[in-house]
Amino acid sequence: MSEVKLDDIVSLAKRRGFIFPSSEIYGGLAGVYDYGPLGVMLKHNIENLWWSSFVIAWDDMYPLDAAILMNKKVWEASGHATGFNDPLIECSNCHSRMRADHVESDKCPVCGKTSTLGKPKEFNMMFKTHIGPVTDDESISYLRPETAQGIFVNFKNVVETFSPDLPFGIAQIGKAFRNEISPREWLFRLRELEQMEIEYFVHPDKWEESFEEWRKGSLSFFEKLGLGSKKVHELEVPKEDRAHYSQRTIDFEYDFPFGRRELSGLAYRGDYDLNAHQKASGQNLEYSPKDGGKAFIPHVIEPSFGLDRAFLAVLAEAYSTDTQGGEQRVFLKLPADLAPIKVAVLPLVKNKPELTKKAKEVYKMLKDELGNVMWVDSGNIGKNYRKMDEIGTPYCVTIDFQTIDDDTVTIRHRDTTDQSRVDIKDILKKVI
Ligand code: GAP
Repeated sequence: MSEVKLDDIVSLAKRRGFIFPSSEIYGGLAGVYDYGPLGVMLKHNIENLWWSSFVIAWDDMYPLDAAILMNKKVWEASGHATGFNDPLIECSNCHSRMRADHVESDKCPVCGKTSTLGKPKEFNMMFKTHIGPVTDDESISYLRPETAQGIFVNFKNVVETFSPDLPFGIAQIGKAFRNEISPREWLFRLRELEQMEIEYFVHPDKWEESFEEWRKGSLSFFEKLGLGSKKVHELEVPKEDRAHYSQRTIDFEYDFPFGRRELSGLAYRGDYDLNAHQKASGQNLEYSPKDGGKAFIPHVIEPSFGLDRAFLAVLAEAYSTDTQGGEQRVFLKLPADLAPIKVAVLPLVKNKPELTKKAKEVYKMLKDELGNVMWVDSGNIGKNYRKMDEIGTPYCVTIDFQTIDDDTVTIRHRDTTDQSRVDIKDILKKVI
């Protein structure tokens, strides 16, 4: 278990504009959060890392952005309409509803009464809606509970347009929705979440080697996220706990501040989904080998990453404290390529035009090169350094009176707080 407290992370994330409660001015909405300006930047950096690791770096990966709304027959065929359930129980005393598998005794965790919990009922977690003006059974649609089905129903399109060789993958990042009975632990269990998923289509004889390749690929992605290897664990999920479609699942767990929990999953879905859609749609979803061999339904390895959980793990891992000048300091030790702001430029004073002019030149040079550079000219320099530490900015470049004379600046490093004097022309070498 990590020593960092979730409350401290939530408070920093709110204070510094990473994560806000959804619809906050109306009291919020359980299980739903908004990404603020710095949160969006950090989230994009995590997505980009995933994209470059698993889409750009692979020769046989096809990106996709399928719609969230789909024909309801997709969810009937996939088994979600009947099988995507959690066990729900209700307390007859306080009428609270909760997930049966989250309750450890016959005592209601909300009101504390014993023997008031009813029998578990199956609760389908898909959000239902209606398409068009008529609200009847025909118009039912669902907000997708996983991005994966968008991939399966486009399998035929990708094969027909690109004629890929097996193995190949289809990758997408997108929103998914689950009507969780008890959303909890901030970004961990959400009702609106984002997934980064790959369906990797393989010959049935090759599934084991592909599964192993993706197991290693997942671990190396966590390393790139800066997650300590001692905090990432693999759990071989027993048959009785696996999703209805899976023949083998490894959950990658992380030591979150509230305990060891699932960070991402790797599943062997066999031919379950393509078979189910072939049967329900009447379309041929077989793959015909280019050597003229017999057509067959490929099997699927699915690495599925939750973006919000990755974001939470990255923040928990980066949250650090130390003592500087007798005061406690909080800083985010984010890997440089994930930090929302790469460098901050701080003119020491605002009212000296020569100094501001130099600072603007430095800012422009860094911005042209690095993109996410922040101009910070309000408040005192010590407080500004602390603010930049709290948002994980690796370097602060300070322009002071000496800069006007000799074209040198001070570069301060976030983790050590060490400062060095550097020529303007050498800043980039120092901060990249
Ligand atoms: N397509 C497979 C699938 O959806 P899953 O284990 O249900 O499998 C995959 O979800 C990942 O999505 C999880 O490992 C987790 O990272 C993320 N996830 C699932 N439910 C979530 C929720 N309610 N809130 C946040 N993330 C969630």
